[in-house]
Amino acid sequence: MELQMDRYAAQQNPVDFDHHSADHAANWPSAFAELRANNPRPWSERHGGFWIATKFKDIVSIGQRPDFFSAHKDYDPVTGAIAGGISIPAIPGLRGVPNETASPEWDGVRTFINRRFSPRAVEAFRLKAQQFAAALIDDVIETGRFDIVEDFTNPMPALVTMELFGFPLDEWRAFADPFHKIIYTPRDDPEFPNTVRGLDYFRQRVEEVAALRRIEPRDDLLSHFANGSIDGKPLDGETLYNLAFNILAGGVDTTTALTSNTLIHLSRHPEDRERLRSDRALMPLAREEFVRFFSPIHALARNVVEDVEVDGWSFKKGERVLLAYSSANRDPDVFDDPDRVILDRFPNKHIGFGAGMHRCVGSFLARIMFEAMINEVLDRIPDYQVVEEELVVYPTIGNINGWVHIPATFTPGTKVGARIE
Ligand code: HEM
Repeated sequence: MELQMDRYAAQQNPVDFDHHSADHAANWPSAFAELRANNPRPWSERHGGFWIATKFKDIVSIGQRPDFFSAHKDYDPVTGAIAGGISIPAIPGLRGVPNETASPEWDGVRTFINRRFSPRAVEAFRLKAQQFAAALIDDVIETGRFDIVEDFTNPMPALVTMELFGFPLDEWRAFADPFHKIIYTPRDDPEFPNTVRGLDYFRQRVEEVAALRRIEPRDDLLSHFANGSIDGKPLDGETLYNLAFNILAGGVDTTTALTSNTLIHLSRHPEDRERLRSDRALMPLAREEFVRFFSPIHALARNVVEDVEVDGWSFKKGERVLLAYSSANRDPDVFDDPDRVILDRFPNKHIGFGAGMHRCVGSFLARIMFEAMINEVLDRIPDYQVVEEELVVYPTIGNINGWVHIPATFTPGTKVGARIE
């Protein structure tokens, strides 16, 4: 009865919360701190109504109960009807596999892809990642100026992802740009449907190259998709595309956001920059601290499958709940001095890569790409300085907390002759 009253009270007194608003983008650390302290399980009426989980413990508990809190999305291509999924509000026309699936579908898909993303498997991309990072810095090093996002943190993970799939490297922009724009274009922007249509080219190329790999397989992800089977059955066209979509979406913008935020931080905090530059053994701890602090995936949704109660919080079937990973990672019950970057923070059990069965499959690859980019900058343009007045943040950080433009200047240097090939 008391739980029902709590539900009733929360829904009668909704918070004015929209994770896609400009106000949220500007003030999210303090907005979440206020909620965690005074109203940690609020209800928002925006986007059809949803609960917001702000505390670390609640988010982990919900993430670990996929039988009640599902990420599954239904999408009817004929009527356009959408239900469930990981986005609030839902993105029409797309279904990420495995992220927007539930068991047993999820189990088959993860079994099918896990081995390709193991620490040992992705180690094979370290040299390529370093080579791409070096080539991108070569492109700008003589000029003394670059846009960190446009010239570096956006192309680099896109190139590695092209390599992983087995797509021609020179197509990276046609693939990565639509994703980048879908992530930061607000859903009510009239441009949003056009942005989603930008993925048509990706779909076409997935189909074309998968057909080629059926005839002549190589050692790449598309060959694995085109010739492999899940639960004994070859992948149908829709599953193959949705899986490729999810890997590309996971691969391109998240690592971009993490590295972009880190490079801004190191520009603003020369003592951290110098410490990391002169002691690279700090990198693994510093990297995890940046994932915690910036939480590139800001918040994602789950859908209540049946009435359920979790640690005194009761949910009704059909409700949606936003898991604010970014808030959990600043929860003072778990992290000392949570609003400060502590390069050697340890322990650091952040959930920047998620919690529970949907935990990030690409985290080992993300770490390799991040290190390659940061090392390249610290080695070759260590005095770079962000041009603060020209920074452009994403219009919405509700999905990914990233930047559109980060202009920066540095003392020009010389090329090392690295190539994108
Ligand atoms: C710093 C970079 C990254 C961050 C912060 C990140 C974060 C996350 C988070 C929070 C989730 C959980 C989603 C949920 O709870 O519903 C997730 C899932 C996922 N990520 Fe990442 N990710 C990163 C890089 C990557 C990369 C490089 C790839 C692939 C190349 C990738 C592919 C995926 C996939 C496929 C899933 C869904 C897993 C599943 O549902 O079983 N991610 N990621």
